[in-house]
Amino acid sequence: MPSYAVTGVSRGIGWAFLSILSSNISNTVIALVRNKAGTEKRVAEELPGRSNIHVLHADLTDYESLETAAAETAKITGGALDYLIGNAAYLDVWDQFDPIGTLGKAPDALENHLLLNFKSNVVGQIHLFNLFIPLILRGTAKKVIAISSGHADTDFVTEYNLPNAATYAIGKAALNMAVAKFSAQYAADGVLFLAICPGMVETGHFQDLTEEQLAGAAPMFAKFQAYSSTFNGPRQPEDSVNDMLNVIDNATVEKNAGAFLSHKGNRTWL
Ligand SMILES: NC(=O)c1ccc[n+]([C@@H]2O[C@H](COP(=O)([O-])OP(=O)(O)OC[C@H]3O[C@@H](n4cnc5c(N)ncnc54)[C@H](OP(=O)(O)O)[C@@H]3O)[C@@H](O)[C@H]2O)c1
Repeated sequence: MPSYAVTGVSRGIGWAFLSILSSNISNTVIALVRNKAGTEKRVAEELPGRSNIHVLHADLTDYESLETAAAETAKITGGALDYLIGNAAYLDVWDQFDPIGTLGKAPDALENHLLLNFKSNVVGQIHLFNLFIPLILRGTAKKVIAISSGHADTDFVTEYNLPNAATYAIGKAALNMAVAKFSAQYAADGVLFLAICPGMVETGHFQDLTEEQLAGAAPMFAKFQAYSSTFNGPRQPEDSVNDMLNVIDNATVEKNAGAFLSHKGNRTWL
């Protein structure tokens, strides 16, 4: 009976993880969210009868909530956990389409967004991994996944001159290093730590853009098309999650310890 804990399942890619993983009744799925009541309501309406889903409160910016979530998870699973998927993230359109030099014209806002990204997407993830590692060590699969982004690949950024999404990309690059550090400690115990980029996925972040944002987005999309001839815009969350689960299933600590891979299982992000 494999057990999974996934953060940020209230919507987007996280919801697709919840929906797909819980469709197999032999999986136990711990759904970690900020809005417990709202997620329980959505589960009751859209995934009725899935008694293998357990919704728990967990906020990446609140250490105590993560500590409580780990303790409650242990009670549900009998003290072990097979897979931890750190999917939740602070996401903000603020820096998505402007170059870093333009962001610097609002230094207070830039600093604030860097800190918001770091607090949730780096510090929160590190606390999450540290608090759940005792459960993972008692699990069978022993896999810890961080959902990262191709924006954090320095070769991609420099080769294609991608100056936008800087605060987000910097946070995800730091997350990748955290994954490598955890791997350096725990690979010897058989634990796989792996960062995966889901590709570009439609979760509402590209809707309702202002004219200015659309103008900023156009060069990025043109570069993505130059990068991948098959890229034709964001994919559906379910497609991305099925791809990522395939990568997770095939990844081993011997081959992939501490690595940063795409949903394709390589370093091709789109
Ligand atoms: N979509 C893409 O194209 C894309 C591309 C590359 C990487 N990614 C990565 O994929 C992951 C999921 O992205 P998405 O597009 O599905 O995002 P999304 O639709 O905006 O969902 C973000 C999720 O994170 C949760 N969250 C935000 N802050 C949190 C916090 N402090 N504590 C706990 N949960 C928090 C949100 O919960 P609430 O509902 O409570 O706000 C929500 O469930 C992220 O790590 C993102 O960086 C996405």
